[in-house]
Amino acid sequence: MAFFQARPLRAAILSAALLASGAQAADEGAAEYREAIFEAIGGHMSAMVGIIKGEVPHQQDLALHAKGIAALAPVTQHIFPADSYIEGGHAKAEIWSDPETFAERRQNFLEAAAALGAVADSGDQAAFMGAFKTLGGACKGCHDSFRAK
Ligand code: HEC
Repeated sequence: MAFFQARPLRAAILSAALLASGAQAADEGAAEYREAIFEAIGGHMSAMVGIIKGEVPHQQDLALHAKGIAALAPVTQHIFPADSYIEGGHAKAEIWSDPETFAERRQNFLEAAAALGAVADSGDQAAFMGAFKTLGGACKGCHDSFRAK
């Protein structure tokens, strides 16, 4: 019982400490969340590449991965808050200094991801492959300008 009573107090102390540590902690949390989202997107992409290249036989999973990216794509709208730039990180400063170009690249990606999601269950392989290539181009189109190696 004492354990359960102690927990709210500990939680309160912890959040007070986090608040006191200020913006730095928030920045890193936002950057880590962003990386986690892109790793999830990248995971679905790698899985599709493996299936398409025939490295694994899991054709039946293709639609799931396509829809996974389509579901995650809109999240990229809110994972670049102004205070989440980390010096030396993989998200380039140009994301915040050239927001119009960045928004354009993100929009291309949103449309490409939605288009792939839309044909995922159609069984139309040619349409799927066309949408898949367009999506790959949208990833690259943003990475070339806005992701540091
Ligand atoms: C609008 C821009 C944009 C688009 C579109 C985009 N990315 Fe990224 N991606 C980034 C940025 C910026 C980073 C670096 C994020 C960071 O480290 O804070 C990144 C990072 C990554 C990472 C590395 C994760 C990490 O640990 O940092 C992977 C994997 C990735 N993207 C895959 C993809 C794939 C696959 C697509 C397309 C399906 C895609 N991205 C589309 C901007 C984009």
